Amino acid sequence: MKITNTIIIGAGVVFAGLCYSSVRAAQPAATKSVLEGVFNEEQQKRGDAVYAAECASCHGATLEGGEMAPPLAGSAFMSNWQGLTVGDLFERIRISMPDGNPGKLSRQQNADVVAYILSMGRYPAGKTELPKEVELLKQIKIDAAKQE
Ligand code: HEC
Repeated sequence: MKITNTIIIGAGVVFAGLCYSSVRAAQPAATKSVLEGVFNEEQQKRGDAVYAAECASCHGATLEGGEMAPPLAGSAFMSNWQGLTVGDLFERIRISMPDGNPGKLSRQQNADVVAYILSMGRYPAGKTELPKEVELLKQIKIDAAKQE
């Protein structure tokens, strides 16, 4: 009896492991990190302008959040996004923001505003801009920022 149970449980664990690895294999691995300088200062400046015009009224001038809108920087924001990818954040914004008028911004504007949000999260600027293709953005993982 005991032995059968062990075999059944063991087989279950192996099966779950196989399912998990095939799900993982279907997604391209996130090979880069926001810690590596994935946007540049120019893009960050453009994103600042987009943010001020389209997002600040709800999310606050310094991304602190507003009456209804959540913060886009700091620990509450990071606990939602850490471990996900820049592509996930980009898609979230592209599909649902600005609240009440999603789809208003171009892909380029969305990528720029994501660069600005990352810069405000104290991630370093680098040499190249964030791409606006979601498949490429999904390769960039959102790791925790280094503490000051
Ligand atoms: C009219 C107010 C309003 C505007 C303008 C607005 N947002 Fe939002 N945003 C919200 C609200 C409310 C939520 C939470 C409810 C929801 O998820 O839809 C939210 C949620 C979010 C989230 C998810 C945060 C999280 O941690 O889950 C992101 C990211 C975001 N907004 C980005 C943006 C960006 C970027 C812009 C500008 C392009 C923008 N928002 C403009 C009201 C707004």
